[in-house]
Amino acid sequence: MGKVSGLECVRCGRSYGLDMGPAVFEGCPECAKAGQPANLSTVYDLSGLDAKRLARDISARPRTMWRYIEFLPAERLDEAVTMHEGCTPMVRLNGLEEELGLGRLYVKQEYRNPTGSFKDRLASSALTHAVRVGAKVITTSSTGNHGSSSVAYSSRAGLDCIVFTMESVPITMKVLMQVYGGKLVACEKGPDRWNLTYWGIHERGWYPTGNCVNPPIGSTPFGVDGYKTMGLEICEDLGWRVPDVVVQPTAFGDGIYGMWKGFSEARQVGLVDSTPRIYAAEMFGSLSKGLLDPEKRLAEVDTRPTAAFSIGTSIGTHQAMKAVLESGGGAIAIGDDDELLEVQRKLGKYGIFAEASSCVSVAAVMRLAAKGTIGKSDTVVAVLTSTGQRDPWTTQSRMPAVPVVGADPARLAEALKGTYGFTI
Ligand SMILES: Cc1ncc(COP(=O)(O)O)c(C=O)c1O
Ligand SMILES: [Zn+2]
Repeated sequence: MGKVSGLECVRCGRSYGLDMGPAVFEGCPECAKAGQPANLSTVYDLSGLDAKRLARDISARPRTMWRYIEFLPAERLDEAVTMHEGCTPMVRLNGLEEELGLGRLYVKQEYRNPTGSFKDRLASSALTHAVRVGAKVITTSSTGNHGSSSVAYSSRAGLDCIVFTMESVPITMKVLMQVYGGKLVACEKGPDRWNLTYWGIHERGWYPTGNCVNPPIGSTPFGVDGYKTMGLEICEDLGWRVPDVVVQPTAFGDGIYGMWKGFSEARQVGLVDSTPRIYAAEMFGSLSKGLLDPEKRLAEVDTRPTAAFSIGTSIGTHQAMKAVLESGGGAIAIGDDDELLEVQRKLGKYGIFAEASSCVSVAAVMRLAAKGTIGKSDTVVAVLTSTGQRDPWTTQSRMPAVPVVGADPARLAEALKGTYGFTI
């Protein structure tokens, strides 16, 4: 069962004990002093795990992310704050695979999690830890997905959750965060949300599931661990083999770093014998720019209002950089709403409606294929992190108006021809 033995910095590697108190949420004190704030990461005692036996045990457990409990912050299954998250399907897109000249292309449908996004993994893991340490009030700042998951899992655990959002997020996001029971407030400026989160942690003892410092470092290490299960699931679904490349929509890098940890630990215990290259699909390109710097410093880049508002960050994190560098992957900045919304419509024809912020992964796969970075010999997994139902208005803005017809087949024929170019 999962045993956290300590913490280490994702940037400088310094070790810390588990007795840091709320400072654990603020990252490595030494890197902060050096002006390079960086998250801490849990260290698990994985010694004594036998890969064959572990694979057998895992396959006999219920199909939720908690089947990988050895890699999660709980010692018993009944401790988990769970709503059957994880074990999301990987669906092969043969048509797109052919179009792009790829060996195999899968999309991992993270929007099939309980609240409709991959953040449920983080929330399930973070809330399990929060309950263990006796938290009474949960908090986070969010444009919607993180907040929805945090609120839903807090309610599941019987705890209150205060969420700081922005006035500009779609009404669907606000409704979700409220209907699950969140105490939702909007801040005038983005960083105000982190200041209030920070205040709540220190003055009121709140437990944060998300980032609380500026510049951002990412979320509580005990939540990031939930994302390890994306990596473990991909390996298990491929018969305990790894794909060549995984592409993950990325903002503060909880997802990409957690997934990388999952792949690395799967290799460490012998469940698989290699790891994939992981690419961060970004909107505005902080990591892409940082990777060009010989010292790999994170770059601050310009942002603007975008359909990919869930990942519209101006600055990446060291944890994301670490995942990309250690895995031998890279970063692709899409930067163009039109390209994303075209990908969204393309996926629609495969029966998939993914949030524009999620579609960056498939847009990045298309760019990697066009450059020849991936090809016929590669198995590629693109993660679709959230559902398009979050923001139907932006999608609708690129659709034709729905034609109204009476009972007359001639009017029907005219409407189908005029709107869709379809002849009956
Ligand atoms: C749909 C979606 N995809 C990707 C991300 C990026 O997540 P991370 O901060 O883990 O990189 C977010 C974060 O809010 C999101 O909502
Ligand atoms: Zn450090």
